[in-house]
Amino acid sequence: MKALHVIGARPNFMKVAPVLRALDAQPGVTQVLVHTGQHYDRNMSDIFFEQLGMRAPDINLGVGSGSHAVQTAQVMLRFEEVALSERPDWVIVYGDVNSTVAATLVSAKLGVRVAHVEAGLRSGDRAMPEELNRLVTDQLADLLLTPSPDGDDNLRHEGIPAERIRFVGNVMIDTLIRLLPQAVLPPVPTLAEKFALVTLHRPSNVDEPAMLASILETLVAVSRDLQIVFPIHPRTRARIRDWGLPLPEDPARVLLLDPLGYLEFLALQRRATVVITDSGGIQEETTYLGVPCLTVRENTERPVTVTEGTNILVGRDMALLRSALTAILAGQGKTGQIPALWDGRAGERIAEILVGEPAVIGV
Ligand code: UD1
Repeated sequence: MKALHVIGARPNFMKVAPVLRALDAQPGVTQVLVHTGQHYDRNMSDIFFEQLGMRAPDINLGVGSGSHAVQTAQVMLRFEEVALSERPDWVIVYGDVNSTVAATLVSAKLGVRVAHVEAGLRSGDRAMPEELNRLVTDQLADLLLTPSPDGDDNLRHEGIPAERIRFVGNVMIDTLIRLLPQAVLPPVPTLAEKFALVTLHRPSNVDEPAMLASILETLVAVSRDLQIVFPIHPRTRARIRDWGLPLPEDPARVLLLDPLGYLEFLALQRRATVVITDSGGIQEETTYLGVPCLTVRENTERPVTVTEGTNILVGRDMALLRSALTAILAGQGKTGQIPALWDGRAGERIAEILVGEPAVIGV
């Protein structure tokens, strides 16, 4: 069986690692790793391959940045040649980034079977580019591997036949469980006993000047009581610079960092008093770690992090963010439990399904 994995952006890397490892342990499997090059900075890409102990990509499509249409089209153009020459039995795609939908569309048109890891998640918000990527990918994929039962429900409601859907658990948590013992704090000038770890990169937060200004203003106000540790995504850094938004120079209050490696970010998450984020995966990681998470979004495609985990959606309501922080600092943060099948074995379950699948899936 020949499996071809397509990855492109930072959150894909920790998801592919456990599936590669699990398929390596299966006899008669050959694997090809294709990186689209959607993320290309060393600290957005290469460092993850090193820290996750992953082989270098066999093929890099080198698409780089661009508008959504340009990026998606470039992956399609370049990936079609690879799919035609490699002729895999399975193309395996991850998450919800532009590379995911582009590779799925190409494969489906070529009649190559597609397995989607992290299928079925829905925010219900079509203004979010990832939601469009999820909807299209899941309609076209042959095998839908879900991280939580809400994913199965969403897919059934969209008319996907039950035999194409498998609840396998969360691959991102496989990687977290494996690497938590190696997590190491980054060498930073100052880290307070209590701090809020912040990440922001969603267009809805960082591409609107008023919204970004309001979030930063709140963080600066909060930093009088609680250190803000803020590894900045390249797009967010560019917006702050271009719009001249003010941040204090004092790292004891606001510690600005470049994007971090996986092990360093994981160590910070584990030590954080609270995490403030608009990321998808970080909502899940904090739930696993039992660290309170305040999500600066109106909705989430990962509802188990709210119903079972430590996540609270604060939306655009900065007063709610402030009051939730006050409760956390008073020791009244949300506690939770670890969702079903977030147990470190999702990659193994996926490998067993892929190897055991009949040649044609009932459609
Ligand atoms: C992408 C994903 C998002 C994911 C995020 C994680 C889509 C639609 N979005 O968003 O779901 O949560 O990755 O980081 O696929 N840039 C660099 N260096 C890089 C990569 C990007 O400087 O290595 C800058 C470029 O200016 C680029 C911008 O960041 O234009 C945005 O990158 P892009 O890949 O388009 O989207 P992300 O915001 O990273």
